[in-house]
Amino acid sequence: MSEVSGRIDLWGKVAIVTGGARGIGRAICLALAREGASIGVADIIEASETVASIVERGGRAVSVSTDVTRAEQVEALVERVGRELGGVQILVNNAGTVQRVGLEATTEELWDRDVNTIMRGTYLCTRAVYPLMIAQRYGRIVNVSSISGRIGGAVSRAEDSPEAMQGRSGPAYAAAKGGVLAFTKWVAKDGGRHNILANAVCPGPVSSEMTRGFDYNVGSQPIARMGEPEDIAEAVLFLASNAANFITGQALNVDGGLVMD
Ligand SMILES: NC(=O)c1ccc[n+]([C@@H]2O[C@H](COP(=O)([O-])OP(=O)(O)OC[C@H]3O[C@@H](n4cnc5c(N)ncnc54)[C@H](O)[C@@H]3O)[C@@H](O)[C@H]2O)c1
Repeated sequence: MSEVSGRIDLWGKVAIVTGGARGIGRAICLALAREGASIGVADIIEASETVASIVERGGRAVSVSTDVTRAEQVEALVERVGRELGGVQILVNNAGTVQRVGLEATTEELWDRDVNTIMRGTYLCTRAVYPLMIAQRYGRIVNVSSISGRIGGAVSRAEDSPEAMQGRSGPAYAAAKGGVLAFTKWVAKDGGRHNILANAVCPGPVSSEMTRGFDYNVGSQPIARMGEPEDIAEAVLFLASNAANFITGQALNVDGGLVMD
């Protein structure tokens, strides 16, 4: 296959998408499948609706119940997707959890939950697909970070509270998302010689379960609306495709222009 950038075409590719049962992860699964990829949908919650939507549209997908913080489950995920769908060329680390409390209220349990889901999960999934990607001399890894990882938390207001800070994503989330950006660059520097490219997207506020009940004051953004899961999915699709063959170690803000750097 030519390594010069080309059009978006994922026929013959297999992708693992974590947190693919709903929200942004589900939209990523559907976008990658639309362009021809077979999808391993990994989530701790039931993901059969995502698989059914892909199959209805003529695509191929399997759902694998996976907790991304558990090494043995992640290894089993990669083994099963590789065996049933034929290899793994694309990994999208999307699974995430958030807490919206301040530093004093951030317990060690909350800290560990978010850091483990976001950072440890990204590390474990990347480690698990890496030998396959090296052997096939091809890999595209896209990590779903957040503008929180760049600016230290996105401010919102709980709709039932006058306190603006009550809706701000917390310190564990910001730290974990920032860690994912550094990890992305580390993998990009290591993986280039194997034709493994690693990039990240940094969504701004997006309508999903994660943001339900919070007001992000999106009226002040240049593109003055909440993002939709599909907005993020199209950016991930680009970075996962051969259209992005000369891009690695980058973080793309997908946020309606909220953060410009
Ligand atoms: N919604 C936003 O405004 C926004 C903004 C920036 C970044 N993000 C990021 O986008 C990603 C998707 O978020 P979303 O908005 O779709 O939220 P969501 O809560 O709807 O989706 C998160 C998914 O991750 C899964 N998940 C959680 N812990 C897991 C684990 N241990 N193992 C496997 N799966 C697990 C959940 O079950 C869920 O399906 C997250 O990483 C989130 O941090 C979201």
